[in-house]
Amino acid sequence: MTRTVHTRVDLAAARDSLPGRVAVVMTMGALHAGHEELLRTARQQADHLIVTVFVNPLQFGPNEDFDRYPRTLDADLEVCRRAGADLVFAPSVTEMYPGGQPAVRVLPGTLGEELEGATRRGFFHGVLTVVLKLLNLVRPDLAFFGEKDYQQLTLVRRMARDLDVPVRIVGVPTVREPDGLAMSSRNRYLSAPERRTALALSAALRAGAAAAAGGLDNEAVLATAHRVFAETGPDARLDYLVLTDPDLEPGPPPGPARLLVAAWVGRTRLIDNMPIHLAGPDGPVNP
Ligand code: PAF
Repeated sequence: MTRTVHTRVDLAAARDSLPGRVAVVMTMGALHAGHEELLRTARQQADHLIVTVFVNPLQFGPNEDFDRYPRTLDADLEVCRRAGADLVFAPSVTEMYPGGQPAVRVLPGTLGEELEGATRRGFFHGVLTVVLKLLNLVRPDLAFFGEKDYQQLTLVRRMARDLDVPVRIVGVPTVREPDGLAMSSRNRYLSAPERRTALALSAALRAGAAAAAGGLDNEAVLATAHRVFAETGPDARLDYLVLTDPDLEPGPPPGPARLLVAAWVGRTRLIDNMPIHLAGPDGPVNP
């Protein structure tokens, strides 16, 4: 049975009644098949699963989609039930921030100002602050985050390490539609033509990954990804398409790397990323 609580008092009591290893998956609701997979993975690796559903105002800029972000709690609870969640914590904004917007927040450091942080000022302050609060409230042994938000996952890992948060952070690979589009709650904003244009992101990443597998160097991998992006989605507005090492440092050496993309499709901003393997000067490096 999946129980739902809305207050921190009820959460604390319900959490105390869960013995063994507890996993958390934090969400903003509007759950889709990608979330369901994340929930199932987390559930399999722990004795109990707690899901949080909270659209966090702190991580939305003044011109972003906080008001129109889909709120679908009944459907979300059904997804949580199917995935075997024990407990759902769905607080109100005042329950999470009883004193209004918190004056003290988590600073994400320089990585928090790059990529997503360059376009979405203050975004990672808001994300890390709510993630730390939820970790303190839920007290999980394990916290699962989707690789779709790769910069978020990287920064949450760093926060846990830098601030000695007693939790193991686990990344879970992105779930995709059959045509390659990464699943996202924001995909529901796309019209049919925009949905086709949105394929530019995953097509570019796949082309970059194939170029890397074929032994091309960093520059050629990026050039290939850019070309395919422009060909597949001429109407999309590219924000960034970059090649980094797995910790998001630029100029990756041969070996494991990450290709990341963000773009506007109509009024919707989409992100995606893929692990790739870069060849060395003497050809492909063993994975
Ligand atoms: O990835 C999300 O849905 C959000 O950024 C998170 C981690 C739930 C924090 O609000």
